[in-house]
Formats: sequence, structure tokens, C-alpha cells
Amino acid sequence: MSFKPRIKVLIADDMVELRSNVRRMLTGNDNIQVIGEANDGEEALKLAKELNPHLILMDINMPKIDGLRVTEILGKDRPDIQVVIMSIQGEQEYLRRAMKAGAKDFLTKPFSGTELVESIQNAFNNWIKDRPEYLQQASKAQVFTFFATKGGVGKTTLATNLAVCLASKGKKTLLIDGSFQFGDVAITLNLTPKKNFYHIVEKEEELSISTIEKNITKHSSGLELLLAPHEPALADAIKPNHIKTVLECLSTNYQFIIIDTPPKISEIELAFLDKTDCVLLLATLEISSLKNTKICLKTFNDISFDTTKIKIVLNKDISNVGISPKDLEEGLQIPMFAVVPMDSETAQKALNTGEPFFIKFPNSTLAKAMEAIASKILPGEPPKPPVGKSSAILKIKDLLFGA
Ligand SMILES: Nc1ncnc2c1ncn2[C@@H]1O[C@H](COP(=O)(O)OP(=O)(O)OP(=O)(O)O)[C@@H](O)[C@H]1O
Ligand SMILES: [Mg+2]
Repeated sequence: MSFKPRIKVLIADDMVELRSNVRRMLTGNDNIQVIGEANDGEEALKLAKELNPHLILMDINMPKIDGLRVTEILGKDRPDIQVVIMSIQGEQEYLRRAMKAGAKDFLTKPFSGTELVESIQNAFNNWIKDRPEYLQQASKAQVFTFFATKGGVGKTTLATNLAVCLASKGKKTLLIDGSFQFGDVAITLNLTPKKNFYHIVEKEEELSISTIEKNITKHSSGLELLLAPHEPALADAIKPNHIKTVLECLSTNYQFIIIDTPPKISEIELAFLDKTDCVLLLATLEISSLKNTKICLKTFNDISFDTTKIKIVLNKDISNVGISPKDLEEGLQIPMFAVVPMDSETAQKALNTGEPFFIKFPNSTLAKAMEAIASKILPGEPPKPPVGKSSAILKIKDLLFGA
């Protein structure tokens, strides 16, 4: 099954009752999502800027700035936002002005749920039909997958902390525990959820956006999570097409989707990778990790995976262990995207208390490393250019990667 992207709607009306009626009429509609309510024209303009709705349901008579003026301002400043006017009988003159100002439709109060939904969908469909690229660009989450073919290199630790870091910056972020058999994200965040990925797929015929959303867990940081099944045996119920559907469906709900994966490449991991914008491939300064990272890169090449999506993250960086970050870079022939230092005390204390180090130890070098990764992936702050070419070549590296 496939999903149409959801239409994000803002309701602007000074009557609380009208707003809650409209919200109620749209509840349960899989294609429309109310993302905010404004009590006057000034707030409507402010929320339009902050929330980027696709469409505003606009009352005419509102305090501070009336709905007509708001429609005119949006027509000039934000022509990408559609306006549907909600008016009472006798405001026909206003109505003409509203249409002139750029409103796409009008609803005469009181209106039915069917009229409301039709009006929203028509206005949006008319606008979108000439702009198929718009939704992909405007409302698709950036998907980051933490990956490594070696266990214990820190995928769950970094995925969890980066996700919490983004959420704490007000970015709408979802963390998916893709380690379906032995997922550690719930325990890492001290969560004992009753809902998880398995509950989305247990009755496949009900796989809808509302079923998916019902099984999302919230963390106190604002982060939202789709957790792994509560028993390893249930993991088999999740198939690649479920992953595809869930990611397509949730993509328009979030700014960032972070995925934690187990140390293997099966059809499940490939389904995640298929929908990934950036793979954060983790390595440590251990010979076995380097070997596995090298093999992993070769496998990606062999399966024609777009290797420009891969960013190397060195975790547990430590000096004087016989292999340096520069050696790693030279061996893999990919510049390093980020380096996270070794700090076992911070990492383990945080893990054992079920609080991410980003929150429990905000001044730690680990928390700062998360800030650095976040600043590289946040919009407007593109990744910094690669570090310069390395020079030193250790004997061990020659052994591994050839001269
Ligand atoms: N930068 C770091 N410094 C010190 N210890 C770390 C660091 N990152 C992670 N660890 C520790 O390494 C161990 C393994 O981490 P984690 O569970 O995140 O790895 P993983 O790659 O998800 O493992 P698996 O492949 O089993 O899922 C944990 O004890 C964690 O606290
Ligand atoms: Mg893990």
C-alpha cells in the first residue's frame, strides 16, 4: 500500500468552539493533520512562519489583524500556503476581496465535515498538481541510519544521543530501533513501552498511518520513538515492505528520522538503507572494526549502493593504540565526517541510569561531540569540508588495506 502525504493545516479563528469543532471533524482523517491553532490574525502569521502549514482555515473577523489582511500578506510573503476562508452568511463582499487576496475556497459556517475535507483537499490538490516535487522537498524527513557490521561499536549509544540532541533543539525527531531481535533503545532510555513496531504489523490489513502513529512512544526530551518488538521471536513478523511503508508514511511527520541497526546486512537493514539519506558508518580504532568497515564499504559498492551517502564516524577515539584516525581515513579512503572520543565512565554511567549522556552530562566531551554532529546535519549548516589528506602509514594499516 502507498500513502499520500498529509496536508498540514492551521486553524485561525478567535472562537475556541469553532476551532475544536473543526479539529474534531478532521480527527481520524489520514490525509489531513491539524498542526496548530491561532486565536487572532497576528498569531496566524506567526504560526504560519513557524509551522509551515500547507493550508490555513481562516476566519474573516479576527482581533488584531483580520483574516482578509492576513490572506493578503500571505499571498505576497508565503504564496506556498493555501488559504480557505471560513465565513458566515452575509460576508459576500468580504468573500470577493478574500478571493482577490489569494484565498482558494470558502466555507460558509456552519459547514459539515464532508464539506470541510473536500474543500481542503481540492485547494491543496489544485495547487500541488503542477508541483510534484514540492512535497518531496518541503516535508520529507532527513533519514540518518547508524550502521556497522561489527557489534558494540556504539550505534545505539550515538543514535540515541544524537536523536535526543536534535529533539532538545526543537527538531521534530523520530528514533527507530531497527534492531528488531535485541533492540537496546528502550533500556537505554529507561522506557517500558507497551507499543512497538510489532504492533504495527501484527494485523497487516490495518497498516495505516493511524495504526503507525498509535504505536509511537514519547520520551521526556520531546523525542518520539518506534521501538523494537518486546520478544525476539516477533521480529520475523516485520518485513521489508513494512519498513518501506512506515518510513514513507512517517516521513512527512518529522524533520529527522534516526535509525539504529543491528550489526548485519540482511533484507531488513537494506530496506532501511534504501530509504536513508545518510548512513553514519561507525568505526573504532580496533583492527577488527577496521576490517569490518572495509568489508562493509566493499559490500555497499558491490550492491551499487550510492556510496556518496556514507559518512564515516569514528567512535571511541583514543590515542596511542597503534592505529590513528588518519590511518583509518587513509585505509578507508573516505574523509572522516565526525570523531567521538572514548569516555567509558560517562557512556556507562549514563547507560546504567537510563538517561542519555547528552542530558545527564551536558558538559561532557561526548555531549559536545553530539552537538558537533548535529550542527553538521542541521539545515543551513552543511557538513564541513573533509579533513586534509593524512600522511602517516602504519605497518598494521598496510597489512589490512595494502600500500
Ligand atoms: N564514545 C564512547 N566511549 C566509551 N564507551 C562508549 C562510547 N560509545 C559507546 N560506548 C559503550 O560501548 C558499549 C556498546 O555500545 P552500543 O550498545 O551503543 O553499541 P552497538 O554498536 O549498538 O552494539 P550492538 O551492535 O550490540 O547493537 C556500551 O557499553 C556503551 O556505553
Ligand atoms: Mg545496538
